Amino acid sequence: MSEVKKIAVIAGDGIGPEVVAEAEKVLRKTEEVFGYKFETEHGLFGGIAIDQKGTPLPQETLDICKQADAVLLGAVGGPKWDSNPKETRPETGLLGIRKALGLFSNIRPASIFDCLKDASTLKPEVLDGTDLIVVRELTGGIYFGEKFRRDGANGQEAVDTCVYNVMEVERIVRQAFEIARGRRKKLTSVDKANVLETSRLWRETVIRIAPDYPDVELEHVLVDNCAMQLLRRPSSFDVIVTENMFGDILSDEAAMLTGSIGMLSSASLGEGSFGLYEPVHGSAPDIAGQGIANPIATILSVALMFRLTFGYNDAAEAIERAVKEVLDAGHRTGDIAVDKSKAIGTTAMGDLIIAAIRK
Ligand code: IPM
Ligand code: MG
Repeated sequence: MSEVKKIAVIAGDGIGPEVVAEAEKVLRKTEEVFGYKFETEHGLFGGIAIDQKGTPLPQETLDICKQADAVLLGAVGGPKWDSNPKETRPETGLLGIRKALGLFSNIRPASIFDCLKDASTLKPEVLDGTDLIVVRELTGGIYFGEKFRRDGANGQEAVDTCVYNVMEVERIVRQAFEIARGRRKKLTSVDKANVLETSRLWRETVIRIAPDYPDVELEHVLVDNCAMQLLRRPSSFDVIVTENMFGDILSDEAAMLTGSIGMLSSASLGEGSFGLYEPVHGSAPDIAGQGIANPIATILSVALMFRLTFGYNDAAEAIERAVKEVLDAGHRTGDIAVDKSKAIGTTAMGDLIIAAIRK
């Protein structure tokens, strides 16, 4: 019998609980089909934790995550908490959990599902062959630098500082080189080295360690140019590595190439095999509670967890195959349906995928 893996489940807000429920059904089905064993423990996180515990990231939730082998996260946030002060905003919980769990690397794949090509706003011939991964540094840079307000000669001033050290750059860039090695062996390092000192350190570091990966082709692209090239020649990218804020922006842009943000999964990793897995989409408060959200991104996040944290490649493939089969058969949730009147709901989509999971 296989070892029991502990998974912390933090469903969060909005459509989070609805999509996570489908992903948990997938966990149970893979236990049945493949004989793996999972123990899940649920924790409060985000807006719901603010309402019930007064903080977006309660210590109990953090403890549950720290004791687990992996974390499955739904989504956090919503208009209800948008005007809260910084300490009681769901986003603060998200930054806190990344830092507390040492998740310095955020991996966001964006690849086109052939049967969903019409969902993109870009021309099919531009998209053909697009299959890229954005590797975003997640625990440094301007997100975590010192922030403050002060009085200046022209009124109040606000300061956000961007800091990176060599270790932080090196560990994420090495990870990106390794990922590129397992794929098409091309790495694009994105910076703003023509202006920013942190970017100059970034580029120097990339150049210094590149000789360790002679089999990987390396290019340096400035972030503004990268934003443009992503729309112009998306299929020429394989792995993109960049700092925290550039990665935040570029990964949204890359996600939109696929036209179906409801399909994209992501992993946040640290040292070792521990990881936090979540859909790229947010809590979608406008459709929460209606049973119409697309659960596929969260279900595919489970596949990513199986592959990257547990090495259960057989089950990961079975999930991905099941998703493809269901889509190929024409089933769609509202977000990816051309004919919205034929769209199916969250649980119906989950049930179809589960039924298609087999060895
Ligand atoms: C993301 C989100 C977060 C980020 C926000 C909600 C803090 O945009 O995960 O990309 O900026 O990292
Ligand atoms: Mg973002």
